[in-house]
Amino acid sequence: MLYSEKVMDHFRNPRNLGTIDNADAIGEVGNAKCGDIMKMYLKIENGIITDVKFNTFGCGSAIATSSMATEMIKGKPIEEALQLSNRAVVEALDGLPAHKIHCSVLAEEAVKAALIDYYAHHPELEKPAALPEAIHCEDCAHCG
Ligand code: FES
Repeated sequence: MLYSEKVMDHFRNPRNLGTIDNADAIGEVGNAKCGDIMKMYLKIENGIITDVKFNTFGCGSAIATSSMATEMIKGKPIEEALQLSNRAVVEALDGLPAHKIHCSVLAEEAVKAALIDYYAHHPELEKPAALPEAIHCEDCAHCG
């Protein structure tokens, strides 16, 4: 079996699929390798991600990893969401085929892009040290 049961489950029944009206932050990233696009919407209250939804024009692995990523950051503090790595998401899904690992990067980058957007709209808040300045897809080593 190429894909784990968890990957198939999240692909067939994606959690938190959709958009959030009046989102506090929106992150949009593209995958340079395949051209797929991911959009992440966050609701944030007092430093906690209270709601998250995603939309993607992407492959099954991108859908499954984003679905899992939204579950992993929902209800969590911003600092914790910034620590989310694509590897942790892949592990939570019991793995992905090697040639699909790059798809998981979309989810991680979309979360970070949304948080960059959040702090751009809230200059009064102190930025967490782990917040990247920007998402530079072409610099990313994951896609190789
Ligand atoms: Fe594009 Fe998977 S092939 S994200």
